[in-house]
Amino acid sequence: MSDLIKKMNDQFNFELSSGYIYLAMAAHMKDQDMDGFAHFMSKQAEEEYEHAMKFYNFLFEIGEKAEYAEIEKPKSDYASFKEVFETAYEHEKVVSQRIRDLYKQAQEENNYEVLEFLGWFIDEQVEEEDTFRGILTRLERIGESWNGLYIFDRELAARQ
Ligand code: FEO
Repeated sequence: MSDLIKKMNDQFNFELSSGYIYLAMAAHMKDQDMDGFAHFMSKQAEEEYEHAMKFYNFLFEIGEKAEYAEIEKPKSDYASFKEVFETAYEHEKVVSQRIRDLYKQAQEENNYEVLEFLGWFIDEQVEEEDTFRGILTRLERIGESWNGLYIFDRELAARQ
């Protein structure tokens, strides 16, 4: 397994661990009786699983084997909803940087298959960051108002 492919496998695991982090956020918000927020984050975790499986399938398609790594225990408590989404937004920025680093390495190695594969993730990360940045802005405006949070909770419950 080349260094680039090993890093692609690391990203497979990072996507799985991202889902795990978001599932723990969902549990935290469900514990606060905010089912819409919890639903939104569970859906996000499903997306992360789909991202992980894209890496998984790609690795097999190029004749490699995806290897599972240990997953760290995710943070289970947050001081506020704002903190949850700040953490998620920062996490997505890390994901974006990791994808860019992989892309750069693939360019340096003229690995066109990996470049083609990563193109989808470059676009996806723009969307992911935008989603969390948007929610964070709303939460900053809502502040600590339970009234506002309950209205937002109903909206987030609608995520497909
Ligand atoms: Fe798979 Fe949210 O990055």
